[in-house]
Amino acid sequence: MLNHEDNELLCRVGPGTPGGEMMRRFWHPACTSAQLPEPDCPPLRVRLLGENYVAFRDSSGQVGFLEELCMHRGASLALGRVEEGGIRCLYHGWKFSAAGAVLETPNHADTKYAARLKAPAFPVREEGGVVWAYVGPKHLEPAFSRYAFMDVEPSHRVVLRINVGCNYLQLVEGGEDSSHVGVLHTNMARPGWKDDSFTRNPDVTNPAALASNDLEPTLKIEDTAFGFHYVALRKTNTPRVQNARVVPFIVPYGRIIPAPAFQFTVLEVPADDTHTSTFLVIHGNEPVNEDRIIELLGLDNPNYYNRQSCTFTASWADSFGQDRALMKENWTGLRGVEVEDAAIGLSQGPLYDRSREHLVPADQAVTRVRRILLEAVKRAGEGGPLRALGLDLRGVGACDSELEEGSRWQELLPSHRETPVA
Ligand code: FES
Ligand SMILES: [Fe+2]
Repeated sequence: MLNHEDNELLCRVGPGTPGGEMMRRFWHPACTSAQLPEPDCPPLRVRLLGENYVAFRDSSGQVGFLEELCMHRGASLALGRVEEGGIRCLYHGWKFSAAGAVLETPNHADTKYAARLKAPAFPVREEGGVVWAYVGPKHLEPAFSRYAFMDVEPSHRVVLRINVGCNYLQLVEGGEDSSHVGVLHTNMARPGWKDDSFTRNPDVTNPAALASNDLEPTLKIEDTAFGFHYVALRKTNTPRVQNARVVPFIVPYGRIIPAPAFQFTVLEVPADDTHTSTFLVIHGNEPVNEDRIIELLGLDNPNYYNRQSCTFTASWADSFGQDRALMKENWTGLRGVEVEDAAIGLSQGPLYDRSREHLVPADQAVTRVRRILLEAVKRAGEGGPLRALGLDLRGVGACDSELEEGSRWQELLPSHRETPVA
């Protein structure tokens, strides 16, 4: 369990909160590149760490990221016109560049006045099909961390965003929790469960397709420069051989999940205390089909996912569409990896209080997430250096392999040992 005070420290991310100050030390995904598809396209309202921003792509293709409310008298720039190298407020026509220069103030045409002002604009990077923003203190801006998915050609990568109405830590903990995979995702993880037989799911794109029927994995954890990595060891039918699934946790909310053909990088970005933007990047050595991935996740059903707004729309209003008649054959009565994960995260409530839970050894990675984030909150409060800032994460990944007795699991991904700075 986590006492109420620590739970609050980790879950609250607004401005001025200790958790929010920690989060503001990192670069964050703000939106996907596809949400700003072309120069001068409609701007996008972005909620990040409890504050509102506007993202826009100017006439040259450069992305700008400004406070949402116009610096003149506070109209939303998300209603504005994006044209001729900037975004123009509808109310009195003030116009701002992506870098925050005040280009025009039509109701006070003195150019010297505009030249003295600077709009609240934030550093932006566009990498790997994602627009990243830094909204923390200027003097603490870290180097930009690089991930492996940023280096592959765009056809070998799919970027999805899923807005889910619960606190980010619930979704992070689901991702660092190997023992739920063989249960919550039973139908994909252990086909044949009904007859107590086990055949491996042959779908090489499915990260829930386990190689073992063992529901009680043994976890081993080791801290790293980026956070930690852990292995879930499961029994196999071969003597002296275990199945080993290694998953990294990248401070403050990242993970990578293995499927035979692809790696799933998942970033649970807090929109505010009770909303999360899940950024999911699937990449590999061959082309990735977006429709196929959406189907695998269960997001091809419009009752669950609005592709336009990137929102997970199912709720208690219809019991998440759970089909109880189906549950004779289907463990959850739901369909798809993300549908099952998001429904569980939402079922814990908007912000789960962990002071009443009962943990077991299979929850060790969840406990480590909390410990490492509490340590980060403390260090941020002291103004000290944080783990995982400005790293070259291109050697960080996940794997699902066999491990012979006596072999070290850490050798499955030796690049985790030395993570260079960016
Ligand atoms: S409020 Fe934006 S120009 Fe006046
Ligand atoms: Fe899951």
